Parts: sequence; structure tokens; C-alpha cells
Amino acid sequence: MKPEELIQRALEARTRAYVPYSSYPVGAAVLSADGEVTIGCNVENAAYPSTICAERVALTAAVAQGKRNFVAIAVATRNGGSPCGGCRQVMLELGPEMVVYIADERGAYRTTTVRDLLPDGFDNARLNA
Ligand code: THU
Repeated sequence: MKPEELIQRALEARTRAYVPYSSYPVGAAVLSADGEVTIGCNVENAAYPSTICAERVALTAAVAQGKRNFVAIAVATRNGGSPCGGCRQVMLELGPEMVVYIADERGAYRTTTVRDLLPDGFDNARLNA
């Protein structure tokens, strides 16, 4: 799948974001090894810490659908905002080999990886060592 296609799915997901507090909609689309795409958007809460980020919605939904092998994730925001630290940790857990496309609302994007976003991250290899 071309990066542009995955980004398009993230942009569509972004239109469904529930963001009454920040007005900062985020969309995410994760590509599984089987070629399927699972989307997510941020869902905010009046109790602010109960907010869920778009990346985590997409990744946890994909796991619930039986996916385990992830190859790429696209994240779309107004201005090309980078994934938060908590989402980087979840990406490391579920898709450490993922390529990450970080897009703005026009679809302009930059490409990075989970390893580059979270160098020396804490993972299950360390936990079980
Ligand atoms: N947000 C995400 O959805 N993903 C991130 O990686 C960064 C932040 C959301 C959370 C909140 O709803 C809004 O963006 C502003 O922080």
C-alpha cells in the first residue's frame, strides 16, 4: 500500500474525532501484515486524562480484530504533530518495526520509524531478561 493511501485513511478517521476540549482532531490508520487497515481517532473526555489518542484507538482496535503484525501507521493532524510519548510506547509494544507517516491536514507528510521515535525504549525483551 502506498503511504498516500494510508494517510488518506487517517485523514478520514480524523473527521470523526471527538474533541470538544482541545479542538485538535487526530486520525490514525494502521496497516497490518495481511494488508488490512484499521483506523482510529482521538476521543476526549471531560475528565481529561481519560482521553484516548488516535494511535492507541487504532492499534488497540486492530488487536481486538485479531491483528498482531503491523507494518505501518499513518497519523494525521492539523499541522503534522508528532505522536505523544504514551503512543510511542504502545507502538513499541505492538508494532516495533512499523514505519510511521506523520501527516498534516493537506496530506503532506514525513516518514520515520518507531525505533527512531522511541530510541532505547523499554520493551518486553528487557522485562523478561
Ligand atoms: N493526541 C492524539 O490523538 N495523538 C497524539 O499522539 C498526540 C495527542 C490527541 C489527544 C488530545 O485529544 C488532543 O490530541 C490534544 O492533545
